[in-house]
Amino acid sequence: MNNNLSERPIGVFDSGLGGLTVLKALRENFPHENFIYLGDTARIPYGTKSPRTISKYLEQNVNFLKTKNVKAVVVACNSASSVVHAITSDIPIYNVIEPGARAAARATQNNLIGIIATRATVAGRNYVTRLEEINPEFKIYQQACPLLVPLVEEGWDDDPITNLIIYRYLSPLMAVKIDTLIMGCTHYPILKEAIRKVVGPNVELIDSGASVSEKIESDFQKNILAPNHSGLTGDISFMITDTSESFQAQAQRIMAPMPVKKLELVDVF
Ligand code: DGL
Repeated sequence: MNNNLSERPIGVFDSGLGGLTVLKALRENFPHENFIYLGDTARIPYGTKSPRTISKYLEQNVNFLKTKNVKAVVVACNSASSVVHAITSDIPIYNVIEPGARAAARATQNNLIGIIATRATVAGRNYVTRLEEINPEFKIYQQACPLLVPLVEEGWDDDPITNLIIYRYLSPLMAVKIDTLIMGCTHYPILKEAIRKVVGPNVELIDSGASVSEKIESDFQKNILAPNHSGLTGDISFMITDTSESFQAQAQRIMAPMPVKKLELVDVF
């Protein structure tokens, strides 16, 4: 086990594939960091579950990653980020909602912001609360999109049926003329091309990977988190909590051109 604080890995978790969009951004921005990715495939989806259940998963995943000696945990899941206040920790825990809300607040010009997310994230209203704190003038429109996570897990990101479903979910937001759309679920950037087709070129799309990378960069600068100074290309380990026939191939597609090495099957509870 590596006790040099800066060289310890950063843990990143999600219920499944979605958090890989965050991992990919983190890897591109911080190539020297070591990462451990945990996909809680045994318990996906999170977004249909209650805050009580998601809090339990969050705690178990964080505790598991701590056993791997991580120096920080990125909760690469909006549904779990919605309940992140429920845990205390001796290492930094990064949620994706706070940085996403700040990025959207900076991006909007007409103060009309849309949020698409899981049912759990929409019910938690964390984006809404944070955005209203930043600027009470914002008009915020949330839309739960429960069908999108299964479509992504199924690999249907380029499919006419998915396009139609996205059109149906996004039409009410387009009707009120939002100029900024928070992709408030880490699975959704995998559907970015399909979403772009519906919203057109003028709506700013906010995704969790870019936003949380900015927050970590700022914490590296402030010495809140120690960056890895080894100069070596970091290592990424992939772990899942249940066997999945398709995870490796799908993960490879999302992470390309980065290789996805062998997946390790782990128990987190
Ligand atoms: N990707 C996750 C999120 O950002 C969870 C999706 C799910 O498991 O429902 O909310």
